[in-house]
Amino acid sequence: MNDLSLLAACGQVCIHNPSAICVKTMPTKHEQKKWDCRYAATEGKPRVAQVLRENHHLLPTSGDALDLACGLGGNALLLAQSGLTVQAWDLSSVAIDALRSCVATECLQMQAAVRDVEKQPPVPASFDVIVVSYFLQRALAPALCAALRPGGLLFYQTFIKDKVSQQGPTNPDFLLAENELLTMFAPLRLRVYHEAGALGDITQGLRNEALFVGQKT
Ligand SMILES: C[S@@+](CC[C@H](N)C(=O)[O-])C[C@H]1O[C@@H](n2cnc3c(N)ncnc32)[C@H](O)[C@@H]1O
Repeated sequence: MNDLSLLAACGQVCIHNPSAICVKTMPTKHEQKKWDCRYAATEGKPRVAQVLRENHHLLPTSGDALDLACGLGGNALLLAQSGLTVQAWDLSSVAIDALRSCVATECLQMQAAVRDVEKQPPVPASFDVIVVSYFLQRALAPALCAALRPGGLLFYQTFIKDKVSQQGPTNPDFLLAENELLTMFAPLRLRVYHEAGALGDITQGLRNEALFVGQKT
């Protein structure tokens, strides 16, 4: 069995690109290698998650921000361009190296680091803004709430079970249940929420993902 069929057998196909893989059940080293391969083959500008793109006017004008499981760091770059001091963490050294090159050319306030966020989550009261896109580790939710300073904002976006196309993971463990972000981040004050799923005319609007912005009170 080759790497791809092994990963497909695990039922975890990448949420953006069906040919890319995010496997939570495999050892970290293996997953790291998979993401390294994917990013080595990726071209173009890193994308910014819709939840941040459409709500960046909610950001504070200064403070510390974290892009958790940042990949190529599209969110991190927008946060830094918005005047925040940014940490960007990901398992993939290829992604982090690419992000560092970007930061160097743009002279931004950012530290990008290879870090396993499951083993080393953010410490309490360390950030004013945290962004998580297309990464779902439910066990991290309490640490994310705790890592926000009072008034701090969490921007979260990922795929839902009630999606209307093949896009995204197939393994239900990696898909959000109904209103799940609201439950996971119940300690935060709700500021923005979107979860349209399969309601109404499914040719219109964002259907496959839930978007959440919450604030620590
Ligand atoms: C689908 S990508 C999303 C990347 C980015 N947030 C985005 O929206 O483009 C998932 C990312 O999670 C990272 N990742 C997976 N497990 C991780 C872990 N335990 N610690 C840190 N990063 C992890 C992968 O390397 C990958 O870059």
